[in-house]
Amino acid sequence: MKDVQAVLRAAAAEIAAVPKQTIAVTGAGISVPSGIPAFRGIGGLWEKYDPEEYATIDAFHANPGKVWRMIREFKEVIERARPNPAHLALARLEQLGYLRTVITQNVDGLHQAAGNTDVIEFHGNNRWVLCLRCGARFPGAELVLETLPPRCTCGGVLKPDVVFFGEPIPPEALSRSYAEATRCRVVLVVGTSAQVQPAASIPFVARSAGARIVEVNPERCLPSDYCLTGPAEELLPALVSEVERLAGSR
Ligand code: APR
Repeated sequence: MKDVQAVLRAAAAEIAAVPKQTIAVTGAGISVPSGIPAFRGIGGLWEKYDPEEYATIDAFHANPGKVWRMIREFKEVIERARPNPAHLALARLEQLGYLRTVITQNVDGLHQAAGNTDVIEFHGNNRWVLCLRCGARFPGAELVLETLPPRCTCGGVLKPDVVFFGEPIPPEALSRSYAEATRCRVVLVVGTSAQVQPAASIPFVARSAGARIVEVNPERCLPSDYCLTGPAEELLPALVSEVERLAGSR
């Protein structure tokens, strides 16, 4: 534990060195303590559902009802999910004036619910659905998922406003994320296996511009400068408390 403590203090010093020079990149792992399963690893969603059959845009077009049946299974889990101490720690880090932006691969909206005000949703969000025929957008929460796939009043199939494999990243999210990565001093990478592009390249874009990579994950997934190996819901509150201590001791 001593090692993690030493790494945590050093990482906190990097963040506390200059206000508003830290960005965060988050993945499914930060929402696991909120009850939302991750995708990869033991108990991950892709263990039960083959992403080739459920997560590509071609699979959705081929059989939208099948994909919506998977979505329906997790609708309650997502709706019941609340921010956990890891989300709340990132919101605190923004309130303290050190965290500038959260770039998230998650579509659950928990960073905004926790209080972060600048969140880039790299893979869209599940709050909206859109009609594939007329383009109309509706709040996802209003959908009654009895007959699947749900349809628009025009008869078109409705699709969650999230990025499926084979779809482009929303251009504004992509350009803003790269712009933030090239002008930060620390990129705090939390709860991602860093296997999916182009999100996985953001920490490297930051490093090429001189940033330090701080990783928070039970397993090291990046060549990070500081790796806090453990659960984010424990380590992020401790990291933010150390930043607050350093900031207060100035
Ligand atoms: N704290 C921190 N990290 C955790 C925790 C936790 N409590 N629990 C799990 N993790 C880590 C795992 O060790 C793993 O490295 O979170 C990571 C989750 O990895 P993935 O399931 O691959 O999720 P992610 O990296 O967000 O996936 C990226 O893949 O399928 C697509 O679009 C989907 O956005 C997703 C993308």
